[in-house]
Amino acid sequence: MKRSCSFSSSYCCWVLSVVLILFAVASDGQLTTGFYANSCPNLFRVVRKEVQNAIKNEMRMAASLLRLHFHDCFVNGCDGSVLLDGNSTTSEKFAVPNLNSARGFEVIDSIKNAVESACSGVVSCADILAIAARDSVVLSGGPTWRVLLGRRDGFSPNFTAANASVLPGPFDSLDQIIAKFSAVGLNLTDMVALSGAHTIGLAKCAVFSNRLSNFQQTGSPDPTLDASLIPELQTTCPSNGDGNNTAPLDRNSTDLFDNHYFKNLLIGRGLLQSDQILFSSDAAQNTTNTVVQTYSNDSNRFFTDFVTSILKMGNISPLTGSDGEIRKNCRTRN
Ligand code: HEM
Repeated sequence: MKRSCSFSSSYCCWVLSVVLILFAVASDGQLTTGFYANSCPNLFRVVRKEVQNAIKNEMRMAASLLRLHFHDCFVNGCDGSVLLDGNSTTSEKFAVPNLNSARGFEVIDSIKNAVESACSGVVSCADILAIAARDSVVLSGGPTWRVLLGRRDGFSPNFTAANASVLPGPFDSLDQIIAKFSAVGLNLTDMVALSGAHTIGLAKCAVFSNRLSNFQQTGSPDPTLDASLIPELQTTCPSNGDGNNTAPLDRNSTDLFDNHYFKNLLIGRGLLQSDQILFSSDAAQNTTNTVVQTYSNDSNRFFTDFVTSILKMGNISPLTGSDGEIRKNCRTRN
């Protein structure tokens, strides 16, 4: 029998509608949770196992992987560009916020290798970062969510953007931080919720030791930092010592993804100036104080808002459709 539109006009209309809907879904660039359901059905299991192994080896890796997703998305969108190798004037790895600081690239390599073994040439490095970030949060005791997928990888790193203060820095004022989040479509609540990522991980002396003595040429430590912490932090970070020594961002709850970071802010125990500024007199006019207070009292609310905001962050200018590529090796374009 000849299968043609004369066979049944209603059948034809139905097929045409399905094709049009599929085309619309594919071409409007929306990320979807089921993007790899057919092309890489074991994807989540494979990534979870690799992240688990990495964290078993070093708990801090959860924090480092979460941060990589953030540093990817803020710089020209979530396109895996932070993973590209290059020299000191091309690769984002050499940009100030990442140099000697961003870590976890070898773990992403292992995940990518495992994913390539399961389904070759299908899953982007940008999506691997998004799934690894989710898994890192879950394995640290935080909330879970369904990761939106379908990003493709950029062809080149964006050194200039990464080096040009697109990313918020530890010495930024609250207004500067708000402006940087706003520039990528994230509001004040997103900013506070996502800063809650500092509930895990470490920071090196170079980004907070300015608070420990002669803060802003006053001859004294930063008055907004809990004074009882200063002797210990000074021991960790002696003046003219190794700026690479580290301290926990969320003291007394370093490896657990919880709302303790916000409780610490209420008592002056934010490690970075940019953490403490979220609960400070500067913050009063911006209402971040209220958001910090809410999260410190209500961990469910923090978790719910964190999930909403990280999904928004993961949706910053993704490459979709036929843009970009699916890198075979996350460090180089194909
Ligand atoms: C609000 C503006 C932010 C500023 C100024 C900031 C700055 C920093 C700095 C300076 C460090 C320490 C890096 C080092 O010492 O090597 C750090 C660590 C970290 N950041 Fe942020 N960050 C911000 C927002 C975020 C966001 C939105 C996320 C993720 C959603 C995030 C996740 C992390 C994590 C998990 C670490 C610990 C990394 C590790 O231990 O390897 N940060 N951040």
